[in-house]
Amino acid sequence: MPYTSAFMQELMRFRAVVPIALPHKTNEDSELNGYFIPKSTTVGPNIWAVHNDPDYWDEPEKFKPQRFIDADGEFIKSNHVIPFSLGPRTCLGKQLAQMEIFIYLVSMIQQFEFLPDPNSDKLPEIDDGINGLAFLPYPFCLSAKAL
Ligand code: HEM
Repeated sequence: MPYTSAFMQELMRFRAVVPIALPHKTNEDSELNGYFIPKSTTVGPNIWAVHNDPDYWDEPEKFKPQRFIDADGEFIKSNHVIPFSLGPRTCLGKQLAQMEIFIYLVSMIQQFEFLPDPNSDKLPEIDDGINGLAFLPYPFCLSAKAL
């Protein structure tokens, strides 16, 4: 299911659930891209910046699942989409979360058509949300019509 995989990867890139990964502390003096980082500095890896770097992404502000589909229609897995962060302290629930999202998303869109709820306010802006450790949309209502 290449397009579903591309859609999920673009979703994770476009709106990183955890824009700044958990804080870590350097255990030795370090240098990164010419910046000196002393031992015991608290650092927060900026996942949002990786996902929106205009030097790497074409139109990062646009939601385009097709950026991850090649000329043969196959899915391109990107090493630059890192919603679960990287390294030895990467998210422990990564495989579980990806499997759950895939199963939930596919089973819902196979059975329902989702539309804005005509009886409630308009949908929240996609750029707006509640920004804490996780970036969440404001609450909203949808109408699900069985197919
Ligand atoms: C879309 C879903 C999820 C996203 C985007 C996500 C993302 C992240 C991120 C960015 C980190 C920080 C990694 C770091 O700072 O290096 C993290 C850590 C962690 N996540 Fe998740 N996570 C998700 C779901 C889950 C689930 C379902 C579980 C457990 C069932 C889980 C368990 C953990 C644990 C235990 C850590 C701490 C790992 C450590 O410090 O060694 N996560 N997650």
